[in-house]
This record gives sequence, C-alpha cells and structure tokens, in this order.
Amino acid sequence: MNRREFLLGSGATAGALGLGCIGLAAGAQELVVQPASFALRDQVTTGMVSLSPDAPPPVLHGKQGEVMRLPVRNTLPDYTAMHWHGLRIPNDMDGVPYLTQMPIGPGEVFDYEFTPPDAGTYWYHPHCMTMEQMAHGLTGVLVIAEAADPGFDSEQVINLRDFRLNDDGSFLPAFTARGAARAGTFGNVQTANWLDGPVYDHAAGSLVRLRVVNTDTTRIYKVHLSGAEARIIAWDGHPVEVDFPLPSADDPLLIGPGQRVDFALKMPLGEGQTVDLMAKFPGQPNRSMTRLRAVGAPVSRELRELRPLPVNPTTKPDLANAELHEFVFGWTPEGGEPTNGFCGSLGYNFWSINRTPWPGDAAKGVGPLATLQRGKSYVVRLRNESPNLHPIHLHGLAFVPIKSNLRPLPPLLTDTMLLLKDEVVEIALVADNPGDWAFHCHVIEHQKTGLTGYIRVD
Ligand code: C2O
Ligand code: CU
Ligand code: CU
Repeated sequence: MNRREFLLGSGATAGALGLGCIGLAAGAQELVVQPASFALRDQVTTGMVSLSPDAPPPVLHGKQGEVMRLPVRNTLPDYTAMHWHGLRIPNDMDGVPYLTQMPIGPGEVFDYEFTPPDAGTYWYHPHCMTMEQMAHGLTGVLVIAEAADPGFDSEQVINLRDFRLNDDGSFLPAFTARGAARAGTFGNVQTANWLDGPVYDHAAGSLVRLRVVNTDTTRIYKVHLSGAEARIIAWDGHPVEVDFPLPSADDPLLIGPGQRVDFALKMPLGEGQTVDLMAKFPGQPNRSMTRLRAVGAPVSRELRELRPLPVNPTTKPDLANAELHEFVFGWTPEGGEPTNGFCGSLGYNFWSINRTPWPGDAAKGVGPLATLQRGKSYVVRLRNESPNLHPIHLHGLAFVPIKSNLRPLPPLLTDTMLLLKDEVVEIALVADNPGDWAFHCHVIEHQKTGLTGYIRVD
C-alpha cells in the first residue's frame, strides 16, 4: 500500500466513524475559500481567491495556549488544504495534502483544531493548488497573542505581497518556466494588505506593535522603517533575545517569502507626522509600502516601558550530542519527468533536494528525506548549490541557525531560513513534534518544480 492508498483508506475509515472532517465546530466561524474580486489598482481584478467575496483574507487571532477551531470550507472547483505556517501543532492539523490529510474537495469542510503553543506572528495559506490559490490572493496573517499582554497601545498588521496583473487588472499567468528555473517570477503590483500604500492612524506618541509578514510567492522584500524610534522585537514569530540592528535605507532587512518581523515603535508626537515602512525594488528609489499617521493629543510612552516578550516554550538543542544531516539544494539533473508537488503540477522539474526532485505526493514509495528520533537534537546543514536565494521552510518544528560560511547569524528561533547564493548554513533543532513535516523552498515555483521533501520525526 502506498502512502496515498493509506491516506485514502484512513480517511474513509475516519469518515465512516464520524471522526472525519465535515461539520461545524461549536462557536467556530467557518473560513470559506471562495472566488473574490478587488480593486488592487484602478480596475477591479476578478478571479481572486479569498475568504470573502470582496476583501483580503482576514487577520486571524488566537491566544497562546488556547484552542482554535478553524473549519475551512472549500467552495472552489479545485482542491485545497490550509496550512498554518510556523505553528508547532499536531501533524494532522498541518494542512499538507497526502502527507497529513486528504485535500479538501469542492463542497467539503475540514475542521482544523489546534492549540498554538507559541505566541507571535504567523500566517496561513493553502498547501494544495498552492501556486494558483496563493498567487490569486489566499494568504493571510495569523496573530497569536501572548498569554500576558506585553503593553502596546495598538497593533498594525501588514501583509506584503505582489500580484501579477495586466494593465486592465486581469491576472497574468502566475509563473513562467523561465522564472521557475531561476529566481522565480515576480509580480508587478506590490501591495500592503492588498492596497497601494495604505495609511493607518495611531495615537501620537503611542507604542505600536508593527507586524510585517511577507506572504509573496517569490519576492524577497527589502525593508526599513523611517520616521520612528523603533526596535525589532520578534523574528519569524519568536521574541528576539539578542540585539538586532535596526535596518536602514543602505542596509535593509531581507524578509524572504514566509518570513515575519515584529517592530516595536513609538509614534511621532506631532499630529499628522508619519512613520513609513519602506521597501526597495530593483532599479527604483525606496518606496513607502504603508504609512502610520500620528493622530490626537500626544500620549507619552517610551519604548523602554515595554517588557521583553515572553520566550516561547521551545527546547534548546543539545549541540554536544546532536547528529548531523545535510541537504543540498540545487538544480535538478536533466531528464526528470515533471511531477506533482503537493497537488497541482506546474509541468516542470527544475529543482532538487539532495539531487532528487520531489517525486510527487501521489508517487509510490516516497520516503522521508531523513527520519529523526523524537526528543533528540540535530544539526542540519543546508547547502545552497545554486546562484538563487531560497527561503527554506520546515513545518512543525522551530530551529536556530548556528553558522554560515558567508555571514554572522544571530541565534534567532525560526521556521524559515533564507539561504543566500552559495551559502551553507547549519541549523540546530530538537525533534520534539512527531509526524511527517514538509520541508521546502518558499519560492512557490521552486517548491512546485522539485524543491520539496519531508522530514519524519518518529
Ligand atoms: Cu508556508 Cu509548507 O509552507
Ligand atoms: Cu509551514
Ligand atoms: Cu528556492
């Protein structure tokens, strides 16, 4: 029996016993995956995918240690499945088709239910028909609040992403073979919360937590803040425990697809003064992606009044007793048949892990890239043998980068490591969450043309 048959079998059994997926959990608001339209620029773009007919996917809010019920109903004619990026939750709630669940068919509902162990900034996106559905809009931010309020006056969530549009507002193809074989195919319309430079009001002099998420399928955003006293307080969901230099116009922060940064900032005191989240695009001057405007009589708060964010309950790897695994990311040898990377093939194979392109989720005998023993510590060497950058993402586990052949790396807990050209990075982790965890590049064209696999924690 192959994995697909196994899953088909177990799915059928669960359904027959009433343990399956249909039905609305009490008190839970259904998330309805549906077609949408929105004016991303002057014209209305149709053929988008969201959770409402005319708005971006909402920011979903949960609380650390409290159960979340998120029934996802699919009203599209295609399959889908929802993934909660960065959350260390049980494997069967991870939303990866064929690996952790069957895809959600048209008209079906899957009841996601989990308790986030960590606070921070996370996000959600489909892991089935990923290219199509993400490129057309289905990427949203998931905020998990700390059990104790860290003391901000307000919050601002910014979802950065591009769309690839014609002048008339219609979609261009989401990818090109040329792009997929290189750095990816870039969008031509950059947005914050689907808008062109939105302005948000916050009290003058107040302390704002700015959560910036890159949910793009391709672009590495290069950002900095201008006009505010600020500090980076979290990276990829987890509190930053070391001094993290504030990015500047000359030295912007690279946020790869899937990555997040939280700033603590103090709004200017003068009514109408602004703070800008600036981004750098090739061949253009820095551009404001979003603006925070100071309003009202100034309140006088200071950044140093903020308590450090509470550390999330992860286990520190035991480096002295860690076993080493190595993964090589590169182009794929010629001649591989195009395969089906987690439902929905792009029709090409360009990329590989350990020189083998992902053979497809429905292929027979697809084994894990590595099997890790539960509770043990590992060092994993990530070797980029290509000139392209790869945000390498591991589901279900948090890891710490420990060294690079190219640069000093701050020891930040993360789920997505942006590998630079020819970079070799070692990360350390404790294999403390059992299951089959997807492991892939978050440039979706790379993911879908071979740069995918999974790691088993037994
Ligand atoms: Cu953001 Cu495999 O996912
Ligand atoms: Cu993920
Ligand atoms: Cu990649």
